[in-house]
Amino acid sequence: MAWAAQPGRISAQSADFMPPQTRERVDALLGQMSLEEKVGQLNQLSTGSLTGPQRIVENGDELIRKGWVGGILNAVTARETNAYQKEAIEGSRLRVPILFGLDVIHGFRTLFPIPLGLSSSWDQDLVAQTARYAAGEASSQGVRWTFSPMVDIARDPRWGRIAEGSGEDPYLGSALARAYVRGYQGERLDDPASVVACAKHFVGYGAVEGGRDYNTTEISERTLRDVYLPPFHAAVVEGAGTIMSAFNAINGTPASANAFTLTQVLRREWNFQGFVDSDWTAVREIMLHGIANDERTAALKSFIAGVDMDMQSDIFLRYIPGLVRSGEVPVSRLDEAVRGILRVKFALGLFDHPYVVEPGAPSAAAAAAGNALALRAAEESFVLLENRIVGDTPLLPLAAASGARIALIGPLADSAKDMLGSWSCQAVSGDMVTLRSALSERAARQGMRMSFARGTDVSGPSDSGFPEALEAARNADIVVLALGESGRSSGEASSRSDINLPGNQEKLLEAVVGTGKPVVLVVFSGRPLSIAWAAKHVPAILMAWFPGTQAGPALVRALFGEAEPAGRLTVSVPRSVGQVPIYYNHMNTGRPRSDPIGMGAYKPDPYYVTGYIDETNTPLYPFGYGLTYTSFSYSAVQVSAASASAKAINEGQSRLTVSAEVRNTGKREGTETAQLYIRMRGTSVARPVRELKGFQRVHLAPGESRRLEFNLGREELSFWNAEMRYEAEPGSLYVWVAPDCTQGAPAKVELTQ
Ligand code: NOJ
Repeated sequence: MAWAAQPGRISAQSADFMPPQTRERVDALLGQMSLEEKVGQLNQLSTGSLTGPQRIVENGDELIRKGWVGGILNAVTARETNAYQKEAIEGSRLRVPILFGLDVIHGFRTLFPIPLGLSSSWDQDLVAQTARYAAGEASSQGVRWTFSPMVDIARDPRWGRIAEGSGEDPYLGSALARAYVRGYQGERLDDPASVVACAKHFVGYGAVEGGRDYNTTEISERTLRDVYLPPFHAAVVEGAGTIMSAFNAINGTPASANAFTLTQVLRREWNFQGFVDSDWTAVREIMLHGIANDERTAALKSFIAGVDMDMQSDIFLRYIPGLVRSGEVPVSRLDEAVRGILRVKFALGLFDHPYVVEPGAPSAAAAAAGNALALRAAEESFVLLENRIVGDTPLLPLAAASGARIALIGPLADSAKDMLGSWSCQAVSGDMVTLRSALSERAARQGMRMSFARGTDVSGPSDSGFPEALEAARNADIVVLALGESGRSSGEASSRSDINLPGNQEKLLEAVVGTGKPVVLVVFSGRPLSIAWAAKHVPAILMAWFPGTQAGPALVRALFGEAEPAGRLTVSVPRSVGQVPIYYNHMNTGRPRSDPIGMGAYKPDPYYVTGYIDETNTPLYPFGYGLTYTSFSYSAVQVSAASASAKAINEGQSRLTVSAEVRNTGKREGTETAQLYIRMRGTSVARPVRELKGFQRVHLAPGESRRLEFNLGREELSFWNAEMRYEAEPGSLYVWVAPDCTQGAPAKVELTQ
């Protein structure tokens, strides 16, 4: 079943990707290639520091000269990439350039916040700008391919890789997927400052059971299409040249040998014209999944299903030639795979410009530009979770009063490497500024006194630093407490079975709050942490994620109010790990506890309702939530019509306009992220209690208001119905424009036949 609702956008993608001249060049080259040389293009090897289980290929140069290496990952300097490229260009018969790939996930040398943090900005331009900047730094070293964006929807904070994506929502995830691709690939892929994007991990990796990395998944086709596939589709529509197939099995079939997702959906329905790279040794791993008893069968199954390039298993290279000769792999399938790879190489301009000029150290101006962007990105990623009144005013922003005494406490206050989170790429520790160094610089400049105590370690039972920390707190007017996870506690292979503050930090927190001093808690982490005690007892909480190179200055500017924390959660924060999986766009069930659109004749029996006997269903902080230093009000939401025809919507003849006025009711200027949610009732299949279908960031002066308009048309109102058709259906439509997924009163519209 095609994504019939968006045919124009799909063909636009394929047309862009292969202009006629490229097609001719690809065909001419393909015509000259031997079977082995074709298969060589499917082979990708790692060099340098490995990013998976250790396995080094000894005879790389020899393989390159034979034309048996299509891609290399983990070469990071121009010297390295040029040296390998020279082997390919000067040493191999057909001089096919190598494509160098790397995990440039949230920056190359200049590190931006981890993707989960950056997603909290809800700022597509900012995301695109950070991706563009990273592309420039990476491509200057010959790295023209990034294994990013990770567009896996994640509903389980135990899963360490939640840090690498844009959260739990397919609509926002799709918008940000497009922004990343735009940034990396730029206007043109053959711009030397562009890198080709790789949307990963196709698909369903975020649904691993128990949040355990690499685990299996069970996902119905509807959920796959409604929730997990849309960000990939968005990336493909935006022109992403490559896709990475995932480690997990989906309903029993490994994603890296899954003909349904790789061929039916990706190639046939979406008309994807680039190529699919397997994740690290994922081709070989299908033996461990249990669907191949030997390497030859693993190569056959994976390749036939639609994986084009084999990352690090090196079994395509060894078995595909024989499989083609025996007729088990049709030549047409081999040619399709090689075409995809060559197309990307041509599109990048690698045949014409295979080498890079070794860059010198970044100029002062370039470094300043990178730092300015990293600073802004960090500031926009912060989410203000609490800001209670202390005395007469909210605790934040802090006043920079001369003589004020600040105690900075916590194991993450001065840990440069932890500020980077996972995938720190080519970050240089000397570039990093911690909270401690930025705050002490600020204190010195403004006549404040700052003391510092680590208090405890990030993990482990140490409490030997407690007395010093408590002493520092008692002697201060205000305490800034920097707690959370280490940078490596999230990311690949870093799932947790509990999501509390690790080690002895909760005890330190409670002891410091026990001194009675006003406390600002800054939380660093790559996942939502269940900080229920803090939520109740700490007056100000700032979720900082892992902010990157400019962590310290961004935090200081946010704490003192020169920057405004305006981020919004892109994941629900659970009260306790037992609520997981938890996500806002869940189904209502037949026995809900409550329902914001009313329950009709149903009267919930408090005992026989969905939920727990020892915990509520609601998260500690919901999706879309975040405070600012000002306040906003929303007018009633207005919709352009009280009814509309579903048929007309599906035919593109009708759409609804939704509007609401947002007013800054506070005393400071500020940025609000207005969110449009819908719900459908009376449809052929149950729909979520709310679904995000639009958002706008708006900056308003005190007292200023703006009317925001949103469209609801075919794209926003379609879903996979009982017959697995993607379309809008008749039913009752509820529409909210609200500051998060729990607030507001809906307008109601009838969708008729
Ligand atoms: C394994 C990870 O799953 C993937 O995200 C990454 O791109 C590759 N290793 C390459 O490092």
